[in-house]
Amino acid sequence: MAESDIRLYYKNVSADIIGENHGITKQQFKQLDELTSPVIFELNEEKNSGELPYRDLPFNKEIPKRVKALAANIRDKCENLVVLGIGGSALGNIALQSALNSYMYNLDDKQRKGPRLFVFDNVDPDQFGSFLDWLDDRLENTIFNVVSKSGRTAETAAQFLIIRQLLLDRLGEPAYKKQVIATTDRNKGTLRNIASAEGLATLEVPDGVGGRFSVLSDVGLFSAAVCGIEIDQLLEGARQMDARISSEDFYENPAAIIAAINYHYYQQGKRYSVMMPYSNGLYNFADWYRQLWAESLGKTYDLQGSEVHIGPTPIKALGTTDQHSQVQLYREGPNDKIFMFLQVKNFKHDIPIGQPPQSAKELGYLSGKTMAQLLNSEKVATEYALIQDKRPCMTVLFEKVEPYALGQFIYMYEAATSLTGKLFNINPYDQPAVELGKEATFALMDRPGFEEMAQNIQPFIKPDKDYLV
Ligand code: PA5
Repeated sequence: MAESDIRLYYKNVSADIIGENHGITKQQFKQLDELTSPVIFELNEEKNSGELPYRDLPFNKEIPKRVKALAANIRDKCENLVVLGIGGSALGNIALQSALNSYMYNLDDKQRKGPRLFVFDNVDPDQFGSFLDWLDDRLENTIFNVVSKSGRTAETAAQFLIIRQLLLDRLGEPAYKKQVIATTDRNKGTLRNIASAEGLATLEVPDGVGGRFSVLSDVGLFSAAVCGIEIDQLLEGARQMDARISSEDFYENPAAIIAAINYHYYQQGKRYSVMMPYSNGLYNFADWYRQLWAESLGKTYDLQGSEVHIGPTPIKALGTTDQHSQVQLYREGPNDKIFMFLQVKNFKHDIPIGQPPQSAKELGYLSGKTMAQLLNSEKVATEYALIQDKRPCMTVLFEKVEPYALGQFIYMYEAATSLTGKLFNINPYDQPAVELGKEATFALMDRPGFEEMAQNIQPFIKPDKDYLV
């Protein structure tokens, strides 16, 4: 394995470390191996027969070609890139940007490798309004990438219609056509229709790839490429990971181990799964993971149609910040969680800690050490403390936070999600429960065809005063 490959460390879930009541014994690992190996085989079969389009993304040569061509076209011509999207159409963009570009990217021209990037994944009028105020005379130098596979998502549609109106009113039709890029289904949907009718440049959400599995497609790669991230390295990392997650040797396959351990603990009543990066840059990957895990694995029915109401609850936490917020609960509260740390060996910066003043000699132990040393010591310390309370812990180790490693991480977690879905015997690729809320929104916003639902919602519109204090 190359030094730059990510590694999974899982000894701290074993019974040897946290005891037989909470740890996994050798015998149980053997059973998990027997249970998971056929499922790895099944997933490989599905991939080989073309049933898992997300697994083909890193091998598709057309995607980086078209993404890079369009990125090159706009990169030097704009000062700001604005992504409009939600859920799987936004979280990957945010995660890549915050992991791979510097913290002050948008504010410091010297740290910027491309235009500023803003990703709006909500319809908060204060947030968007403040942005539009700032945008004012910068509108001309701004490109908007509206991302929606279906094209009918109300939040993204609303953002788009606001921007469309603004561009048409302020700069006219030619500017509107030049400054909006639509990423959507290749052939169908509202956004595709608009793009075709209005002559907008387009990118594609590949067929059969759901939003939360789409970061390695045009959806996530375009903003990354525009902002100077090496997307070829991301894809190379994913391709390298493909061999590891296809291995039918359970102990060689990190996605299978993640899936099996999560499955085991779910059955044992540990139904919360905390992802805790010790890196601010990786924190938004915990957010990305949260959606991937929750939407994919939280299901009413199993594959035979029986009602199961299954699904582990993903939680995001940040080290060290949440040591001072959540760890009290994690150690002393119910032993119902498993922990996945993300740890970085070499940060892009390291900062030596200065000398303490005479009046605070007790801080002397810090001086001469570095910030990275402190951060990683705190990770080990927290894990050690959790282990004392028999809490199962795993770690994904990053040599460096770079595109190659993140390509591996993304692809590994997507496959782990597929495998966990198989172990739970559910379909991880749909999200039927999101629909009712979307439709109720249509009803409340007077969309034709939703009149009956609007009637049903009436009682919920006005609060019942008897219950209002
Ligand atoms: O993962 C998913 O499928 C969802 O989170 C979608 O990405 C989200 O609902 C946005 O949908 P769309 O891209 O159709 O606007």
